[in-house]
Amino acid sequence: MPDEVGNLPQHVAIIMDGNGRWARKRGLPRLLGHRKGAKTLEQTVRDAAAAGIKYLSVYAFSTENWKRSSVEKTGLMRIMERYIKRKVAALKEQHGRLRFAGRRDRLPPSLAATFEEAERTTRDEMGIQVILCVDYGGRQEIVDAVKKILEDGIEAENVTEDLLSGYMYLPDVPEPDLIIRTSGEERLSNFWLWTGVYSELYFTDTLWPDFDKGVLSAALEAYSKRQRRKGGV
Ligand code: FPP
Repeated sequence: MPDEVGNLPQHVAIIMDGNGRWARKRGLPRLLGHRKGAKTLEQTVRDAAAAGIKYLSVYAFSTENWKRSSVEKTGLMRIMERYIKRKVAALKEQHGRLRFAGRRDRLPPSLAATFEEAERTTRDEMGIQVILCVDYGGRQEIVDAVKKILEDGIEAENVTEDLLSGYMYLPDVPEPDLIIRTSGEERLSNFWLWTGVYSELYFTDTLWPDFDKGVLSAALEAYSKRQRRKGGV
């Protein structure tokens, strides 16, 4: 891991892409790629916490992923539910806190309940915060913010960037410093649209199930060498 502590990102966000291709290369069903992806996520949480990362957010299911086959959607939801139920105690032992970003109203009720229970159980933990983005879309997040602003009866003249920031899903979470995308794709795909405007981007050809400490270190090292001007000079 890089030594320059000052240059360590506080919040690392990951677009976990390539599970399907990983499975296809092995002649396996796509869902086995997602299952291996969940294991990779578990190890990545440990590696990120060990590296000193305070917030790790991962894109697990996007608002666009509803277009996938019902077998894949149901399977993925089941993998998430089982995984969280089985691993939340271990996360708590590491002082990790689990949070969710996204819409909840379209999820299977048992998954939504599992999310709520996991959030409640780990609410007071002060170690790494793991944010699972599920039924998350950056545009949807902005639409949801605007709806709440209207519901609150805010006057147009009081609508500012800071106000909108306060209406995003997790306003207390710092903006992502670094967004990593695996599998060779180089797009944001509707991830962290509002909060990710100044994020550094890092792309790797590694498929998500093969992601490991070495790739994480390489991303952190690349980040540590970049200068972040955020529009300044
Ligand atoms: C993208 O690969 C991956 C997903 C849409 C799912 C990511 C979900 C996990 C890794 C499981 C998360 C588990 C928990 C416990 C939250 P893809 O299917 O688009 O792969 P492809 O582009 O190769 O087809």
